[in-house]
Amino acid sequence: MGTRRISVTVDGVAYSDDVEPRTLLVHYLRERLGKTGTVVGCDTSNCGACTVHLDGRSVKSCSVLAVQVDGSDVTTIEGLAQNGELHPVQQAFHENHGLQCGYCTPGMIMQSVDLLKDNPDPSDEEIREGLEGNLCRCTGYQNIVKSVKAAAKAGSVSAAGVAGGAA
Ligand code: FES
Ligand code: FES
Repeated sequence: MGTRRISVTVDGVAYSDDVEPRTLLVHYLRERLGKTGTVVGCDTSNCGACTVHLDGRSVKSCSVLAVQVDGSDVTTIEGLAQNGELHPVQQAFHENHGLQCGYCTPGMIMQSVDLLKDNPDPSDEEIREGLEGNLCRCTGYQNIVKSVKAAAKAGSVSAAGVAGGAA
């Protein structure tokens, strides 16, 4: 009773679903769509573990209602890899040990991708600032900053690659 129909594209697939007005986006993604790569790390909207992209910008999916994404495009950590290849930011976290327990990682990566979009060559300080809303209880952030820097470097390389016609 009282549900609303939403149409939303998630990780490139169109969905039409009836949701309750109070359903949070994170619960819709996890429970209805099975997108369990997006995780819940707090109940106070401050850990950032649930970060996804909404129309290309990062948002904490625990602070958005499912009805609010009607007509939008959502990307989760599960939609970041393309054609079986890790996204450069995923690859960089992997190579630079940007994670330990991995719980914060999906959100950290989604936030980092957004950050690099605005600032393709961030300083350590800018990375720390950009990731302020994402908490990591394990790494001390050192390797996370290193990972984002490496991704920034790889990004400029792959941009050159694309310009040169490489796949
Ligand atoms: Fe969304 Fe913590 S679960 S900010
Ligand atoms: Fe464990 Fe960040 S790697 S919380």
